[in-house]
Amino acid sequence: MNVLITGGAGFIGSHIVDLLIENDYNVSIIDNLTHGKKKNINPKATFYEMDIRDENISKIFEKEKPEFVIHNAAQISVPNSIVDPINDASINIIGTINVLETSRKFNVKKILYPASAAIFGEPSYLPIDEDHPLEMLSGYGVTKHTVEHYLKVYKSLYNIDYVSLRCSNVYGPRQDYSGEGGVVAIFCEKLLNNEKPFIYGDGYQIRDFVFVKDVARAYLMAIESDIHGIFNVCTNSKITVNELLSTINHILHKDVTAVYTDSREGDIRDSYMTYDKINSAIGWKPEKSILEGLKETLDYYKQYSKSESII
Ligand SMILES: NC(=O)c1ccc[n+]([C@@H]2O[C@H](COP(=O)([O-])OP(=O)(O)OC[C@H]3O[C@@H](n4cnc5c(N)ncnc54)[C@H](O)[C@@H]3O)[C@@H](O)[C@H]2O)c1
Repeated sequence: MNVLITGGAGFIGSHIVDLLIENDYNVSIIDNLTHGKKKNINPKATFYEMDIRDENISKIFEKEKPEFVIHNAAQISVPNSIVDPINDASINIIGTINVLETSRKFNVKKILYPASAAIFGEPSYLPIDEDHPLEMLSGYGVTKHTVEHYLKVYKSLYNIDYVSLRCSNVYGPRQDYSGEGGVVAIFCEKLLNNEKPFIYGDGYQIRDFVFVKDVARAYLMAIESDIHGIFNVCTNSKITVNELLSTINHILHKDVTAVYTDSREGDIRDSYMTYDKINSAIGWKPEKSILEGLKETLDYYKQYSKSESII
């Protein structure tokens, strides 16, 4: 079965690629490597270095004939979407429409897409379920949700099935800790180097961290079932940013403290989500505890000395 994945050289995308290949799928990747890394790319996948906004992606679809498209490529930084909303929309909306139009022309059966907890804004109740009202606080939140509207429209106009997986905070090996990397990646890197990480706000904000291989398994199960629509992919458990720091310290037998600074514009105070819907539909649930996931993540970062970039 042919699967084309955009953003397959990135953090989450590369884990999905690995799992699909392990399960005998024929995988092709489109990624412009703005944030993805060549070293993440599974050698058994066919890689095309191209921007998703390029009309030549149609040549790749023509050659690869994907039945499934996993559309992971995106501008992923909330702060960047506030500083440069035009670039955010250009990649996350116009680029996505190019992928959808090309999927339509080449008769793709199903499109899988990672939406984000950023679309909920400040929650009005917890845990967040799929019916929770949406209140975007950033351009990134707006673009991630806009795509869900397009997916629905393509289903009603052209009968292309879709699954939108609304992922909470994904963490794990290969996450980029430079620039706007995820908090887990940044904390791991800082603590391994005995440096103090920044915490925005008081550190008591609640998050829901889901391990990247659990997310990849949700994609595989979504491809192998006939589900369609919107599903949360998360852990339904809460951890504060301060607890995250102390857990990483505990694993490393360290006691590195944080430097506290002002909260960032667009950041959500507390968020955790329920996965009941996807669990009832296909039996997916997270398998890694935060402790196990953090240990595996730290093992990955330990392989890289300070001088060797993971970028
Ligand atoms: N990391 C999370 O916690 C999280 C949570 C929810 C949703 N998501 C979504 O999951 C997807 C993957 O996120 P990630 O954390 O793996 O980020 P990532 O940056 O590692 O992966 C994105 C990939 O897309 C590629 N890309 C970006 N712009 C492109 C373009 N114009 N053309 C072609 N390729 C392009 C990048 O090079 C990168 O390889 C994104 O859609 C993101 O919005 C991530």
